[in-house]
Amino acid sequence: MFHTLIALGLSLSFLLSSSLADSTPSFKDVLSSTANLSTFLNTLQNSYPDLLAQLNSLPSSSPVTILAPNNDAFAKTVYYPVVGPAFSNGDEAAIQNILIYHVVNGSHSSKDLLPTFQYFPTWLSNATFANVTGGQRVGGVLQNGKEVIFTSGQSTRSRALQADIAFAGGIIHIIDTLVTPPTSFPQTAELFDTTTESFQLTSFLGATYYSPNKTVPALAALLNSTSDVTIFAPNNAALEVVNGALADLAKNPSALAKLLDYHIVVGNGGPWYSTNLTNATTLTTLAGETITITSASNSLFVNSARMLTSDLLIVNGVMHVLDNVLSPDDTSATPVPSLATQVPVLSQASGVKASEAPFTTFMPWNVVTILPAAAATSGGKSGYGQGSATTGYGAQATGTGKVGGGAGRVSAGAMGVVGMVVAAAVML
Ligand SMILES: *[C@@H]1O[C@H](CO)[C@@H](O)[C@H](O)[C@H]1NC(C)=O
Ligand SMILES: *[C@@H]1O[C@H](CO)[C@@H](O)[C@H](O)[C@H]1NC(C)=O
Ligand SMILES: *[C@@H]1O[C@H](CO)[C@@H](O)[C@H](O)[C@H]1NC(C)=O
Ligand SMILES: *[C@@H]1O[C@H](CO)[C@@H](O)[C@H](O)[C@H]1NC(C)=O
Ligand SMILES: *[C@@H]1O[C@H](CO)[C@@H](O)[C@H](O)[C@H]1NC(C)=O
Ligand SMILES: *[C@@H]1O[C@H](CO)[C@@H](O)[C@H](O)[C@H]1NC(C)=O
Ligand SMILES: *[C@@H]1O[C@H](CO)[C@@H](O)[C@H](O)[C@H]1NC(C)=O
Ligand SMILES: *[C@@H]1O[C@H](CO)[C@@H](O)[C@H](O)[C@H]1NC(C)=O
Repeated sequence: MFHTLIALGLSLSFLLSSSLADSTPSFKDVLSSTANLSTFLNTLQNSYPDLLAQLNSLPSSSPVTILAPNNDAFAKTVYYPVVGPAFSNGDEAAIQNILIYHVVNGSHSSKDLLPTFQYFPTWLSNATFANVTGGQRVGGVLQNGKEVIFTSGQSTRSRALQADIAFAGGIIHIIDTLVTPPTSFPQTAELFDTTTESFQLTSFLGATYYSPNKTVPALAALLNSTSDVTIFAPNNAALEVVNGALADLAKNPSALAKLLDYHIVVGNGGPWYSTNLTNATTLTTLAGETITITSASNSLFVNSARMLTSDLLIVNGVMHVLDNVLSPDDTSATPVPSLATQVPVLSQASGVKASEAPFTTFMPWNVVTILPAAAATSGGKSGYGQGSATTGYGAQATGTGKVGGGAGRVSAGAMGVVGMVVAAAVML
């Protein structure tokens, strides 16, 4: 009897110590033992079993961080761009791309995150969603010293409800909103039109489609199908204030093209996220002239333009919003950081500030937009967009009445409306 007890004790301690030595659960173990992750597990099993198997047998030498959406996150996908249509249409290829975007290369625990954003490469590399060298990125930040936040396409914000769950291949953060694979430049620029002024980009977007001779606009085509682009996009107010100068420039399409090209950097080592931009960085633009970054007073400036919003992720790179139009004829403009608004570099010789953003009649057509009525949030909450809680996002139509019109701005009314707005475009 005594011997049996000793033997039992020994084998118990043997079992304990061997299980301690190898105690980190597998990926599947964590998912199946966490009630809130059952939809994530089912979705992986049904739509991407290969990814599940791969994550379950990762070599410890190359850990990953899994952003694991909880069941509530999957239940609200209908309100979100990209992920909403993918799930409601049962588009398995798109679902696979979405799932793999939740795998972040490297181990990024909450204590490794910084109070400023970092942009981490993910495993999403399909060029439809990730025409960027090194894999599509997600932003990660530690806010208020405790909140773990990830940002993705269309400024989607995902909050970790539970961080740092160890598994054999790395760590898992349980998030409250799926990360959204970035959309194209036009789709991303359209989205923000109805939100705060610092995001309004339809004027610049329209300018890239400017085509008085009705040919496919070269810049718009390039921005759609070139990898590793960085777009420094002046907001609508910035274009409005120099409307007269732009109208003069537009009389000479190649001068306008050069001005627009001066806002674009292609390649040059990959997309330039804000974390890559430090004081005195110079970048050669598509126009051939260089721009200079200045870091001062907690802001980044491009020449003399202040970066109002940084790091809007797009399929093929990243976009930063400026408060001033840049000019390739004034490459040495420097900011006055103490001024809230920088002095325009284009001289407004003719014309006055426009009451409407110029070039918007050239915006692309067939813009399909999801209206995330229930999901639109303001500021701190998780969700899609940075807008106010009362207005949704809609495609801004471009009709001027010349060749038919377009649907007007669509406001999100009923909760859960999935609005598909096909605006009749008017290419003059
Ligand atoms: C990339 O994703 C698209 C859209 O989801 C899909 O049609 C295509 O087959 C994918 N390409 C590859 C190489 O997996
Ligand atoms: C992930 O990081 C490893 C190094 O830790 C690197 O070898 C690999 O190429 C990276 N993979 C992706 C998809 O970024
Ligand atoms: C788990 O689900 C419950 C019920 O929806 C929710 O209140 C809780 O915040 C979730 N926890 C995590 C870590 O997702
Ligand atoms: C049409 O305009 C574009 C620039 O907007 C220019 O590149 C192209 O050469 C023009 N084509 C013709 C036929 O004039
Ligand atoms: C660019 O892509 C958008 C969205 O996919 C599309 O609506 C637009 O027609 C494209 N424009 C060009 C010039 O290729
Ligand atoms: C990605 O970029 C490459 C190179 O710039 C381009 O040739 C290709 O068409 C782009 N792919 C997509 C899907 O836009
Ligand atoms: C930006 O920084 C990341 C690391 O933070 C680096 O991997 C990448 O190469 C940098 N890109 C450029 C264009 O310098
Ligand atoms: C930033 O760079 C500029 C040159 O572009 C230089 O004059 C200035 O001293 C630098 N500021 C800091 C804080 O290093």
